[in-house]
Amino acid sequence: MRLGKFLAHAGAASRRGAERLVAEGRVTVAGEVVTDPARDVDESSEVALDGRPVEPEALEVHVLNKPAGVVSTARDTHGRPTVVQLVRSRRRLYPVGRLDADTTGVILLTNDGDLAERLTHPRYGVRKVYRARIRPPRLSPRALRALREGVELEDGTTAPARVRQLRPGVLEITIREGRKRQVRRMCEAVGHRVVELERVAFGPLGLRGLAPGESRRLTKVEIERLRQATEPRGRGRGRAARRKR
Ligand code: URA
Repeated sequence: MRLGKFLAHAGAASRRGAERLVAEGRVTVAGEVVTDPARDVDESSEVALDGRPVEPEALEVHVLNKPAGVVSTARDTHGRPTVVQLVRSRRRLYPVGRLDADTTGVILLTNDGDLAERLTHPRYGVRKVYRARIRPPRLSPRALRALREGVELEDGTTAPARVRQLRPGVLEITIREGRKRQVRRMCEAVGHRVVELERVAFGPLGLRGLAPGESRRLTKVEIERLRQATEPRGRGRGRAARRKR
């Protein structure tokens, strides 16, 4: 297995973070500094990070209902509470992607760098469902069409999205990208401010009765479903697969 992947699997960092650790010369294999993240290693290779042996650890995934005001980085320079502090685990978990501090709802935390990478990389196109309260509340058919077809943002046009008006002023928006502040920026681009934003689903996972601030560890079956959500459409995401869920 590639060294970067081995480190991510062992919970040392995310896949990209692991490649950085290797590039910084903090990783040794059998006592020698290795700076190539593609080096082939296994459990017997004596991989160490900052001089400490790296052992594969049990992988966990947790789902948290993130309250407003909590940041989704592992640490905050302004001392605000973090999502990591709200989840009980002996492992070093990190958030899967980001939500803005004032966005609430589903956020996943894991020590499985490989799964985290698949869940967040746009190539895998995992669906994220948001509920947005907008001002002004009345959305024109033209604005609705633009949101669905793609709006121009400074970092490029958004991919087609599923958008439903649940009631005046409340939209359900499903996207498969994950750009910074994407939903807020999409709504702003068509003349609406998002005054409340909740992520109600990440792939197959919803909040299912979790109160704000509550979290729970996913079962093996749920983790497998998450993994399936990262497979190409037609496999794992087809109608038959959905019916089984
Ligand atoms: N889109 C946003 O604008 N903010 C989030 O937190 C998530 C998606």
